[in-house]
Amino acid sequence: MLNFVRRAWAPPVSQADLERALWKLGVDGSRDAICHSSLSSFGNVVGGASGIVKALSNAVRTIVMPSFTYYTLVWPTGERSADWPQFLSDDGPPFTSTSPVSRDIGRVSQALMEQADSSRSMHPALSFVARGAKAADILGVQTLMHPYAPIGVLYALDAEVILLGVDHRSNTAMHYGEYLSGRPMLERWANTSNGAVKTCYPNCSAAFNPIERHLTSLRSADVGKASVSVMRVRDVVDTTRRLVERDPFALLCSYSHCRCSAVRDKIKREGLHARRDSILETYLGGTAVNERSSSF
Ligand SMILES: CC(C)(COP(=O)(O)OP(=O)(O)OC[C@H]1O[C@@H](n2cnc3c(N)ncnc32)[C@H](O)[C@@H]1OP(=O)(O)O)[C@@H](O)C(=O)NCCC(=O)NCCS
Ligand SMILES: [Zn+2]
Repeated sequence: MLNFVRRAWAPPVSQADLERALWKLGVDGSRDAICHSSLSSFGNVVGGASGIVKALSNAVRTIVMPSFTYYTLVWPTGERSADWPQFLSDDGPPFTSTSPVSRDIGRVSQALMEQADSSRSMHPALSFVARGAKAADILGVQTLMHPYAPIGVLYALDAEVILLGVDHRSNTAMHYGEYLSGRPMLERWANTSNGAVKTCYPNCSAAFNPIERHLTSLRSADVGKASVSVMRVRDVVDTTRRLVERDPFALLCSYSHCRCSAVRDKIKREGLHARRDSILETYLGGTAVNERSSSF
């Protein structure tokens, strides 16, 4: 009831309002982008989640969003390691191409997924949904062992990150920067119709906000009650990589029961080993991103 009253009194945000704001922030229909969103942050959006999807689709060439399904994560007997959360069961709903997006990812991703011309990658826990000219290129590179590979293609395309009413705790591109820096990843299992499969899985993103003051491409505007931010994927990835290379524990949270503790332990044991991404290097013409990024 309180939510309803709050929304009813907020000035309505139209598709055109969001398109205008994105245009002013330099998102002019020619760029590709990955977007993270909170529908309720705007107050009252005319047309709801599909109004946001229409605005995004007009503002960019290819729109990508996470369509993660955390509820497919399982804990198979015999594969249990000390860092696994206790509440995971040893069985759960298998991922399918129509599995609903987790509530933690949001209604706008779900609405994008429900568009007839959208595509979705088939990672059982960390899938992405995309629509537009480069959708197949971006989604096609994802694997269980390299779940953030689509961000590498976005990097090569010089795409933008768009945050709609959310902060960097939702900024998935940062995980790709961590990957390149050599931050250790954890093992997780997710259920599919052929049984549970193993995937690499990152630390959490609860402590990602300190990146903001290091970003040079960030620009923001208010739309309704929401703050809309736009920044280059390359800025986000390169900055994350630099911060982690400078301090291997940077951007890890300090909650005692979080899986970030397991990542800290792995760093202490194994150190950082910078990774090259052959997919990205192919896109960029054979140069390691670690050698190139200083020129961006
Ligand atoms: C978790 C998160 C999705 C919550 O945001 P939210 O605004 O509460 O949720 P959604 O975006 O799903 O929008 C649904 C809410 O919008 C509200 N809503 C419904 N219609 C609306 C409209 N026309 N206008 C405005 N708000 C509306 C409803 O309150 C609804 O909440 P309810 O389901 O409890 O009723 C958001 O904070 C977030 O983190 N998003 C980014 C996720 C991400 O990309 N993460 C990357 C992995 S690290
Ligand atoms: Zn954490």
